[in-house]
Amino acid sequence: MKGVIFLKLEEFVDETFGDMAWDNILNIADVASDGAYTSIALYDDEEFFSIVKTLCEEHGLKMKEAQFAFGQWIHDKLIAIAPKDVHQITDTFTFLRAVNDVIHIEVMKIHPDAILPEFIFLEETETKLLMEYKSPRGLCYFCEGIINALINRLHENISVRQIECVHEGDARCVFELIKQ
Ligand code: HEM
Repeated sequence: MKGVIFLKLEEFVDETFGDMAWDNILNIADVASDGAYTSIALYDDEEFFSIVKTLCEEHGLKMKEAQFAFGQWIHDKLIAIAPKDVHQITDTFTFLRAVNDVIHIEVMKIHPDAILPEFIFLEETETKLLMEYKSPRGLCYFCEGIINALINRLHENISVRQIECVHEGDARCVFELIKQ
């Protein structure tokens, strides 16, 4: 996983749990890089999961809650580094297509070593979107947190839930978004 995500995770942890929280977690998680992350370098995914697992243990969170909260928090930071023209998109369904077809493609051009999720759009009407989240990392809860914050930023009244999830024994992860 790219260093930028670890640096954002550090910011999130310190902002949410206090200045000492990150150092404390790193001491316990004992990750290979010792936490010396730089933005464009690539680190083992194991380090990310080990840090989030320790965060959960130290602060009494479930994996799902921690990843969702980090996803919600990181949304604004990702928007800040996104190509400027995506700021003109005012609806969630169009934005999610742009993430898959433009934003993450641009990320891959600049960082060919990144591993980005693929969104497969299964069904779309005026009021409903079914979207499969596909990634070897299984970060669907993190993804759900980002989508939740995206909906809030665009001031849309949309409910989002997973109707299938690999962590619940299903073969894939599918999000259902319903416009109220
Ligand atoms: C707002 C909707 C977005 C959603 C739902 C989304 C979803 C995700 C998810 C779930 C991941 C984790 C990797 C995985 O699951 O395999 C990820 C990684 C990433 N995303 Fe997005 N993303 C969004 C917007 C953006 C934007 C605006 C940017 C900015 C250019 C961005 C840049 C990245 C980068 C750099 C990574 C890390 C890749 C790596 O570590 O290899 N994303 N995204």
